[in-house]
Amino acid sequence: MKLAIAGTGSCVPETKLRNSELERLVDTSDDWIRTRTGILERGRAGPDIASSDLSLVAARRALEMASLSADQLDLIIVCTVSPDMLTPATACLVHRELRVSRPIPCFDMNAACSGFIYGLEVSSSLMRGEGYTRVLLIGAETLTKFTDYEDRDTCVLFGDAAGAVVLEAREGEGGLRATVLKSDGNFASLISIPGGGSRQPPSPYVLAQRQAFIRMNGRQVFKIAVQAMEQVARDVLERAGWKLDEVDHVLVHQANSRIIEAVVERLGLPRDKVPTNIAHTGNTSAASIPVLMDECHREGRFSPGDKILCAGFGAGLTWGGAAIEWTG
Ligand code: UT7
Repeated sequence: MKLAIAGTGSCVPETKLRNSELERLVDTSDDWIRTRTGILERGRAGPDIASSDLSLVAARRALEMASLSADQLDLIIVCTVSPDMLTPATACLVHRELRVSRPIPCFDMNAACSGFIYGLEVSSSLMRGEGYTRVLLIGAETLTKFTDYEDRDTCVLFGDAAGAVVLEAREGEGGLRATVLKSDGNFASLISIPGGGSRQPPSPYVLAQRQAFIRMNGRQVFKIAVQAMEQVARDVLERAGWKLDEVDHVLVHQANSRIIEAVVERLGLPRDKVPTNIAHTGNTSAASIPVLMDECHREGRFSPGDKILCAGFGAGLTWGGAAIEWTG
């Protein structure tokens, strides 16, 4: 049995937060942001738009491409660190809005920017173990709502988006070939949203201290990210039984164009095998890889049989890789 990607979809808000607007909010410059991050603009969801709304658009596009109805799904997973609310799960809200007419398992996963890779492994395990045939896997974030626009270290980075894939169990070879997941909680404090959970419950104090926003030690994260993504790329290739020069496309989490360039250089990859969209999306955390995958697919970059390597990295710290043989 193979686990094929039967459809992809994405949703990046049309409203953009441009570098010039950030220049007016904090002590930064368009030049600094472009050269240090590669970001020119990022999608920003409006005040009435939550992660489930972006998820729904991406999911409908993925289902349409797969020529499937929502009633044919056996499982919905949303990978997110910016859910609509602490509970219920955003996946349950997607289930409701897609009008799935029967109860199926729906849950959220928090593996931050590695969420989609984690979601691939969990989906695949449940498909093989429970016999599910079709899974809707979404990476969705509205991180601009958890961004402190007084903190220049973080506010230039994050954008909103959702990306979705429909995984389908089919006869034959190919599809999702291998995944590798890692995390090291010793680095938990390097990226966090410290307030709003049970450690620091919501309170006027937590809000006044700006603890409900993302905090990050970017410089340290940068160094670990480059090493971890290089290693996990090599590990997942070994598990898939692929050589690096056989790989046709490398989809790397879009955190910073300098991180991507460093990974490209360490792995010795031809630059044209590594598409990027960070200039127009910013860092969209769990949405980043599935949005890039959808854009590449709709541009016609992937052909059946192409070997695709994915690598992601994020809060936790978590990281992971996936090897996918495109099935078309
Ligand atoms: O997706 C989850 C994982 N997250 C990441 O992968 C993020 C990883 N980290 C990064 O992308 C980068 O570390 C940043 C983009 C966050 C920062 O870039 P950097 O090259 O590591 O800069 P830095 O933190 O070493 O700071 C260099 C200088 C500092 O000034 P001094 O101390 O040299 O005078 C900062 O205060 O740049 C300053 N700086 C800024 N200047 C203008 C920091 N942020 C800004 C800013 N505008 N927005």
